[in-house]
Amino acid sequence: MAGCEYNLIMLYFGIILLYGGVFASHSKNVPMVSTSLGPISGYYKYSFENRVFSAFEDIPYAVPPVGDLRFEPPRPCPAWTGALNASHLYTCEQVRSEFMPLSGIKVQEDCLYLNVYVPKRQPPVNDNYDVIVNIHGGAFMMGDSALAGPGYIMDRDVVYVNLNYRLGALVGASARMTWTAEDEGLLATLYLEKILDETDRNWEEWSEYLLDYYNVVNENEKRSIAQKIKSFYFHSDKISKGNIKSVIKLFGDRYFNVAFETAVEMQAKVAQSPVYAAVYAFNQSTGFAKLLGSHLQGVAHGDETLLIHDYIGFGPQIHGRKLSTSENFIKNLLLDSIHSFARSGKPSVSGWHSLESSDDQ
Ligand SMILES: *[C@@H]1O[C@H](CO)[C@@H](O)[C@H](O)[C@H]1NC(C)=O
Ligand SMILES: *[C@@H]1O[C@H](CO)[C@@H](O)[C@H](O)[C@H]1NC(C)=O
Repeated sequence: MAGCEYNLIMLYFGIILLYGGVFASHSKNVPMVSTSLGPISGYYKYSFENRVFSAFEDIPYAVPPVGDLRFEPPRPCPAWTGALNASHLYTCEQVRSEFMPLSGIKVQEDCLYLNVYVPKRQPPVNDNYDVIVNIHGGAFMMGDSALAGPGYIMDRDVVYVNLNYRLGALVGASARMTWTAEDEGLLATLYLEKILDETDRNWEEWSEYLLDYYNVVNENEKRSIAQKIKSFYFHSDKISKGNIKSVIKLFGDRYFNVAFETAVEMQAKVAQSPVYAAVYAFNQSTGFAKLLGSHLQGVAHGDETLLIHDYIGFGPQIHGRKLSTSENFIKNLLLDSIHSFARSGKPSVSGWHSLESSDDQ
């Protein structure tokens, strides 16, 4: 890694690179761009539909936050001399997580690098593409920009940027177009699938941990809260395979749905422009439940991202995969939504619910 020594806010860098960048003629058949910090050379990649695009990967946007800089604000990168070689993808997982097994990605806190993808080999400076910046998923605790590869998006004429950012205790960020999956609680349910009887028997003791409220509820209320939750979702039934849909609903509500609605409503109250929200309910052939070895049915957390991005961490089952006609159709709807939102601030695809600050709910 070519580490840099002083600070530059990421956004500045994006603007400098994307708007100030002048594509020089190719040297040695690689795309070159000049920035206020120095020249950058990239390489060519191919999109899902085989369009060539220019990739500039692993561009430092701050001094590596390691050693004495570990918990410090980012420091600017100094200018470099000679071309920065931005022609390989650097992957780094700052925190190893068993929930997101990214095979082959090393644990490393030197992670402040971003990737920029530009259509074509030699785009004219005045093409004025829309820019889509992706902040990868992982609850601000795990993951890597490689989770959000450019393969599908670069079938469109857009500039795409994804980045690594500090995670977990090492720091954290927000959006105005957002969606949730129909069965958000599915992945959490995978962990209980084989021990549903035990879960039922131990519900009063386990509930506060399974649903993460052990620190926010009075000790003497915990028992009755556990009972109330159980009777709300399961009535007088035992938790079992027969009502696993309710287990999925329970985890989905606790970890995603309630927070999703709350966040969307809060954003709509203060945002100057509408907030667009949707529920993703497409039953695709390869979702995360299947990738994680389960037969549970439903539309799991993150399933849509498999039709928006190519993933590096999950290996060959996703790379080079074939999409069915309906998957291809939904992929294009998702890309149309994101692309039109980047272009006009409004998704061109129907199905998005718009909330405005004047709405009361
Ligand atoms: C840039 O890095 C790539 C990948 O590590 C390497 O193959 C290539 O030779 C390098 N180019 C230059 C000009 O150093
Ligand atoms: C989802 O797809 C699976 C596999 O193709 C199928 O077995 C299941 O019935 C489908 N579920 C719904 C709700 O369509």
